[in-house]
Amino acid sequence: MAAVAYEHILTEIDGPVAIVRLNRPQALNALSGALMDEVTTALERFDRDDAIRAMVVTGNERAFAAGADIKEMANVGAIEMQQGTKLGQWERIRKLRKPIIAAVSGFCLGGGNELAMSCDLIVAAESARFGQPEINIGIIPGAGGTQRLTHALGKARAMEVILTGRPITAREAWEAGLITKVVPNEAYLDEARALAAEIATKPPLAVQLAKDAILKSFDLPIEQGLDYERKNFYLLFASDDMREGMAAFIEKRKPTFKGK
Ligand code: CAA
Repeated sequence: MAAVAYEHILTEIDGPVAIVRLNRPQALNALSGALMDEVTTALERFDRDDAIRAMVVTGNERAFAAGADIKEMANVGAIEMQQGTKLGQWERIRKLRKPIIAAVSGFCLGGGNELAMSCDLIVAAESARFGQPEINIGIIPGAGGTQRLTHALGKARAMEVILTGRPITAREAWEAGLITKVVPNEAYLDEARALAAEIATKPPLAVQLAKDAILKSFDLPIEQGLDYERKNFYLLFASDDMREGMAAFIEKRKPTFKGK
């Protein structure tokens, strides 16, 4: 796939794993419209690239992202906000099919936390702090915070985080089920890459349909969710990788998955 020049992010391809690094360190990776546009565009391109099987989104040691860009929003009106494309980008991220791992260190606040929660797994450094401080500037989370954080933490803890604006530690986030794992500060990116590389060895269609069914559990009542899962399960019986996986098991050899 042709290289694209980005201004606010860095991208890297490591075998089947693509890495998108937010790169506005001077603003603690505040999510300007331009940065979010680049993140979304890069993820969509990798999602379409057959050679890529998993994606990692990361920031730097000091900040994953400290939220939406407050300087950009300070003088915007309600109608301008509603008419703008900014929040539409989040819908595009929600539609990505491949697994995305957030590798988080330092501040993971506001829209930053919402971006991490839009990913499928979160690997965090001990230093990471997860919060929704919007209340301190007269607004509320607008990219899924009230919904996704509540699903993860439960009502009482989500209320505390959102109404006080006080962040929680990586360990608290892990104990509450918000994140996948907490690792020593120096290891967060390597651990995220390793997790992405491990998932990349799995049959891609099964990975994508598993992700799809898990995400549906947030939208559907249990009975419809079970039906939805069953249909994805049936669908995989049409894949070459299912034949290969089962044949390899029976023949006691390693499977070779092709994503077909
Ligand atoms: N938007 C724009 N700029 C930001 C920013 C943000 N969200 N967060 C940090 N910055 C900028 C600062 O303005 C500062 O820039 P200057 O050097 O030009 O002054 C630079 O990044 C470094 O930040 P600080 O000097 O403030 O660093 P600190 O270590 O003293 O504090 C912090 C760190 C506690 C994270 C603090 O920067 C902070 O509170 N940031 C804002 C957090 C926030 O409110 N996020 C929610 C935004 S709203 C949102 O996200 C809405 C949504 O749901 C979509």
